[in-house]
Amino acid sequence: MTLHQLIYRSKKSQWVGSAEVRSIIERSSTINKNMSISGTLLFDGEYFLQVLEGSQSEVLECLCRIQADPAHSQLVILLDETVDEREFGTPGMQLIESQTGIVSKLEDGLSNLSIFIRMLDNPGMKSKANMIIKAFRKGRWNICDELISIKKSAPPPQKTCVRKSIVERSYPHYFAFQPIVDVNLMKVTCVEALIRGFGGTPPYTVLNDLEPEALFKLDVESKLSALSMVGEMGFEGSIALNLLPMSLVSYQGSVELIAKHAKSLGISPRRLVIEVTEDQAIENLDVFMEAIKTARHAGMRLSIDDFGAGYAGLSLLADFQPHKIKIDRKIVDNIKGNGPRQAIVKSVIEFSERLGIEVVAEGVEDESDLAWLFAAGIRNFQGYYFSRPAYMSLHEVNWPDFLVEDIDWVSQKVEA
Ligand SMILES: Cc1cc2nc3c(=O)[nH]c(=O)nc-3n(C[C@H](O)[C@H](O)[C@H](O)COP(=O)(O)O)c2cc1C
Repeated sequence: MTLHQLIYRSKKSQWVGSAEVRSIIERSSTINKNMSISGTLLFDGEYFLQVLEGSQSEVLECLCRIQADPAHSQLVILLDETVDEREFGTPGMQLIESQTGIVSKLEDGLSNLSIFIRMLDNPGMKSKANMIIKAFRKGRWNICDELISIKKSAPPPQKTCVRKSIVERSYPHYFAFQPIVDVNLMKVTCVEALIRGFGGTPPYTVLNDLEPEALFKLDVESKLSALSMVGEMGFEGSIALNLLPMSLVSYQGSVELIAKHAKSLGISPRRLVIEVTEDQAIENLDVFMEAIKTARHAGMRLSIDDFGAGYAGLSLLADFQPHKIKIDRKIVDNIKGNGPRQAIVKSVIEFSERLGIEVVAEGVEDESDLAWLFAAGIRNFQGYYFSRPAYMSLHEVNWPDFLVEDIDWVSQKVEA
């Protein structure tokens, strides 16, 4: 039998008091014994943290029932892995008051009690489960919930944005444009230009099979078209351009060319954001640094795209701090129920704040993921939820109701 350990955190429903918690323990105790699961429940009066140990199939089956239980909500999986031996004693169920460590009900007498006392108070116990439990006791997992339960009500979704299509025949290159929004300002602050083939075909139809020189040339020169299109659409915010660091270095005068073209359209180079991925940056760090120096000198801003998807991550940030970090969609996806992703995003927000880096969550599609990210402090978003990329055009933006409500609250606070 493969032994499995699963830890989740959840928040009790309003109507749940100590009698209900006791009843959960009693019901669960018999079931867990029959399924050979040990269930350890920590409760701090508001949040639960439960460790389930047993065979993988039984643990997952049990989790399904628990997830469907209306006695709690906002369940976030913190750990889900195979272990070599039981860490939490014999099957059954016990409740521990999270703050005091008092075990309220024991199925297996003193042996389990001593396990928990050891677990909770021994600083030398370094198992993952134990460290997660310690973080829970310090209140580290009581985060970002208020907004998820905000009642959706009144204000209709606001639709704002420039809506103007470009005539594709007027340009030698084709682009789709996707807004990046700042929900504090309720504004599209930036549009990202995404290269396409004629008619909106994917980027590889244009970029594949090109020799490096031709690729760098297209990379740079297509951005001139993108800028003209944004100028024609009358968009007045920032413009994000994906550029290979190598293009900026090997195409002589590329930065000057882009800056000059922007100025001729009345676009200040300060509105231009050069986006590169971690891997492109780290592949040839010297080339990247050189390109960055030139772009910064021209007043342009820098953004690391798909942050967390590549290999560079933190080591890149130690040497170079961009203006913006765009957290990769894979980390954002299903963040509402995933503890490790939540912990990563919280840390990105924290270090970015200290370093003065703006954080954008990209690939946001789901409203409850968005609510979590918003509650965690992210204000800049890009993703299908707000608006899809629009070929030779900019789509309108969908503003979710709960943000509209909270923005009122935020602006009241700012005014106060
Ligand atoms: C915080 C919490 C922890 C729970 N832990 C367990 C558990 O370890 N084992 C279990 O069988 N049920 C547990 N339950 C109860 C289940 O949600 C469910 O009510 C019970 O398994 C009976 O399932 P059924 O209603 O489908 O018959 C827990 C419920 C809550 C709210």
